[in-house]
Amino acid sequence: MTVATTDPTAPTGGPEPSDGAGMSPDVRLRDLEWTDLARLAELEQELFADDAWSEATWWSELAARPRRDYVVAVSADGSTAGYAGLDVSGDVADVMTVATAPAAQGRGIGRLLLDELVRRAVARGVEAVLLEVRADNDAARRLYDRAGFEVISVRRRYYQPGDVDALVMRLLVPKGDA
Ligand SMILES: CC(C)(COP(=O)(O)OP(=O)(O)OC[C@H]1O[C@@H](n2cnc3c(N)ncnc32)[C@H](O)[C@@H]1OP(=O)(O)O)[C@@H](O)C(=O)NCCC(=O)NCCS
Repeated sequence: MTVATTDPTAPTGGPEPSDGAGMSPDVRLRDLEWTDLARLAELEQELFADDAWSEATWWSELAARPRRDYVVAVSADGSTAGYAGLDVSGDVADVMTVATAPAAQGRGIGRLLLDELVRRAVARGVEAVLLEVRADNDAARRLYDRAGFEVISVRRRYYQPGDVDALVMRLLVPKGDA
């Protein structure tokens, strides 16, 4: 596994290496497998509550490969520490999700997963990686900001209930620079 802590493909002023405590987390990254899905559905409940994906949704995502591309972070004890995924269509990749298990947060796993998504997107020849994030999700916003993503538009009151804006963020990557 290659992990980009500094991304040479980034635009000027792009990603900064995370200086968060506990970087180089003790996890390994691998492709999502069907045996992960039940645990991912449990973690979704803890992490996303009303917006949680069910196990059935995860089966659909797995069936949508290779357009969908998911990676799982596995701890030394074999537990699922986090997961993340992309939708790749033409020149653009959309981040479908990035999530770290509650007990594993703040150790650099989110950044590790995001860097792996960007690496995979670049390898597939996209020109840009896009994502949507709730304006009130401070942890995710800092993660994306530090990785070089920039806000390109705002969808007012996109998340309901609550009238929370969605920020659309983008990372431009030179095409074919895998
Ligand atoms: C967002 C999330 C994936 C971050 O995962 P993580 O493994 O804790 O993140 P990392 O340890 O890699 O930290 C990445 C950056 O975010 C910052 N960060 C992490 N948690 C934070 C918090 N609660 N508040 C502010 N910043 C935070 C870190 O300090 C780090 O920035 P740094 O490089 O300047 O130190 C995690 O909080 C999560 O799973 N949240 C619930 C699901 C979710 O909202 N996903 C995003 C959907 S768009």
